[in-house]
Amino acid sequence: MRIFDIIDKKKHGGRLTDVEIEYMIEAFISGKIADYQMSAMLMAIWFRGMNDHELAVLTQAMAKSGDMIDLSAISGKKVDKHSTGGVGDKTTLVVVPIVAACGGKVAKMSGRGLGHTGGTIDKLEAIPGMRTSLSQEEFFATVNKIGAAIIGQTGNLAPADKKIYALRDVTATVDSIPLIASSIMSKKLAAGSDCILLDVKTGSGAFMKTFADSVKLAQKMVAIGTHAKKKTAALITDMDIPLGHAVGNSLEVIEAVDTLCGKGPDDLTEVCIQLAANMLYLLEKGNIAECQKMARRVLNNGSAFEKFIAMVAAQGGDISVLRDTEKFPKAPYKKSVLSDSDGYITKMDVEKCGIASMILGAGRENKDSVIDFSAGILITKKYGDRVKKGEKLAVLYTGKRERLEQAENVYKRSVKIGSKKPEQRSLILARVEKNKIEKFFSGE
Ligand code: URA
Repeated sequence: MRIFDIIDKKKHGGRLTDVEIEYMIEAFISGKIADYQMSAMLMAIWFRGMNDHELAVLTQAMAKSGDMIDLSAISGKKVDKHSTGGVGDKTTLVVVPIVAACGGKVAKMSGRGLGHTGGTIDKLEAIPGMRTSLSQEEFFATVNKIGAAIIGQTGNLAPADKKIYALRDVTATVDSIPLIASSIMSKKLAAGSDCILLDVKTGSGAFMKTFADSVKLAQKMVAIGTHAKKKTAALITDMDIPLGHAVGNSLEVIEAVDTLCGKGPDDLTEVCIQLAANMLYLLEKGNIAECQKMARRVLNNGSAFEKFIAMVAAQGGDISVLRDTEKFPKAPYKKSVLSDSDGYITKMDVEKCGIASMILGAGRENKDSVIDFSAGILITKKYGDRVKKGEKLAVLYTGKRERLEQAENVYKRSVKIGSKKPEQRSLILARVEKNKIEKFFSGE
């Protein structure tokens, strides 16, 4: 078998066989296929795509290129969740304890943030003492005892994805729906849960900018999960407005705690309830309406918050900062961003909000950047809100005073103010299962 022929076949729009796909991944990992050949292959896939079967085989081969985590030492069915990434997306911190408080098991491996999007592991590490690297025994024991643990991805999870992603990053092939789907799902399959809920973000702060592309990505990922015999579903959720009010690691943990205590912002609370309910549904805890009720109950009676406390304590975190969030270390510098005009907020460029937060030190400009946990943004006025000239739009926090002006300029450019109140937006736009899409809004 020659990689030249496989590239040529895909270049002409041919359908690759299972053997060709498996050879391609194995030979690439073992160094028999050069980076320039794999790059050509990725570009051929970018133009020609892959059908659901090719994609399922590619994803399995990528997953099997490293460790396949065996979660059978944890009793019962396990459910995983993945967000395609956004700004202010702290849902994992809320959703995982909700599911555990309802009797579900979540053995979760999460990633770090890069660029304008945040990562769950960075947020958790904002809690003093929190360990996000546990031995396998400790990870399993924590999930068995508490129902949940969240750790960073182990070094050898889907190494083929790591190698392929590095090429995609420099060959303009990141923005391919089949390549994104196989990349995300290879890690989810390797992580070993029985059920997978995908939160596909759509809008200006997301990978997928349009609803149509978000549905296509969700369908591809659901097809891959189902082919691998995992119960898989996806929610398409809005990322044209940052989620909640807090952007930045400690600020987001504080907002997650407020939400777990029933005092969170409405948008964040609602998205968390729907995500948790869908995870419980995949675990067969009831129909969607029953699962929503269960999720609301554990938020309102404090048991989801107590699960979060138990999980953080088991992972070495200082729970006193969760019981009294005033104890979180504070950023030494802050600045209010004021409105230049009267009107309504008619648009928020979420990517720019994320970039402003990164400039303040809350995110990584490159892989080696060091995060400032106390840096970030508290948004006081959001899409649809009425504002007066001189009124506060947001407060910026940082450890580097010299960054404030640049972040303020970027943040100001992210907010558009118009004279007419804009239409309310839907938070949850659709739900995707195998051969089924439920749309929750009209239009598009
Ligand atoms: N996240 C991933 O893990 N992979 C992609 O290709 C895009 C987003």
